[in-house]
Amino acid sequence: MPRSLNTSLVRLKSSGIRRINALAAQHPGCIALALGEPEFDTPQEIRDEVTRALQRGETHYPPNNGTPFLRRSISEYMSAQGFDYAPDNVIVTDGATEALHATLLAMLEPNDEVIIPTPAFGLYESIVRVNHAFPVFLDTARADFQIDEDALRDRVTPATKAIVICSPNNPTGCIFNAASLDAVARVAAETGIYVICDDVYNRLVYTDGYERFALRHPELREQTVVVDSFSKPWAMTGWRIGWLAADPSLAVQIAKAHQYMVSSAVSFEMPAAAVALSVDPAPMLETYRARRARVLAALEKMGLSVVEPAGAFYVFPSIKGTGLTSEQFCARAIEEAGVGLVPGSCFGSEGYVRLSYCVSDEDLDEGLRRLDRFVAGL
Ligand SMILES: Cc1ncc(COP(=O)(O)O)c(C=O)c1O
Repeated sequence: MPRSLNTSLVRLKSSGIRRINALAAQHPGCIALALGEPEFDTPQEIRDEVTRALQRGETHYPPNNGTPFLRRSISEYMSAQGFDYAPDNVIVTDGATEALHATLLAMLEPNDEVIIPTPAFGLYESIVRVNHAFPVFLDTARADFQIDEDALRDRVTPATKAIVICSPNNPTGCIFNAASLDAVARVAAETGIYVICDDVYNRLVYTDGYERFALRHPELREQTVVVDSFSKPWAMTGWRIGWLAADPSLAVQIAKAHQYMVSSAVSFEMPAAAVALSVDPAPMLETYRARRARVLAALEKMGLSVVEPAGAFYVFPSIKGTGLTSEQFCARAIEEAGVGLVPGSCFGSEGYVRLSYCVSDEDLDEGLRRLDRFVAGL
């Protein structure tokens, strides 16, 4: 009889988002407002550069941490955003997904704990668990998706290694205010825990007042990792390329994790990724902004309350008034109304559903009409 596999991995459930998409796929004509993926194609000038790189024969192993040109370009791009990360402090990764894996692999030992403010992107919990560590959830729903300092302090133990913060957030679209960032900073300064900033939606912000943790708290540089990605701002989800930036003391170890996991990102994508950095995502942002306004108006009409999102392309309305669990709500919305949403339970927050508005205008409008009829009939 074969011996057991990694039990922490075996116990992981497959992503709830994929489950809902599979259910939606069984209902022809169902409109899925469920995926976190821009419907746009990657801008043409970025795609053209891949073709040129292939013609130039850039098909060999690149340096593990990325080509010097791309790392310099990222360092300059981040410096225009106010950061101070030299090219040596930048690691080009296989998307933010691998950046998060490499970062946590570098940090975690068995039985460590990682604080995850919820609702949260499910990947964090999975990575923590496969590293034989434990997620410790911090419910932010009661504080309008902000961080309550006392609640955070209550979660810290001698085993706490890190906190993962995501702003703008998936699934709420909310950004952490200054008080939340300062609360994290105070706790991190006192306890030495690492702060992993998942900033993949930083270019998709609709309001003033967005601040990034690493810029507001440079004094915590040795404890901070900034994760970013080409996926969302430049509609490059299928390319699987992103990056992280960290102080050398951390970057050296994360680079080892990255090297042993994937060796590097894809060589011939790197010149194109450098082109992407100079492409302004504003036209896509304006499209999302207009859709966000339509979604908020439609939810108000349906009587579903929502904390207005400041970024990303999601809203996370409360469905508590319907008396249904989020799984029941989403399953029935697919079966009875032909519209797919993601249950809040997939993000660790019952009583909510996630609606993505990164779909075509027609699909969005029809999806909202169906949702309206469904909610009215409950
Ligand atoms: C918050 C968050 N972080 C990371 C990722 C992964 O991004 P990437 O495509 O760069 O791996 C996603 C993708 O949906 C996300 O929503």
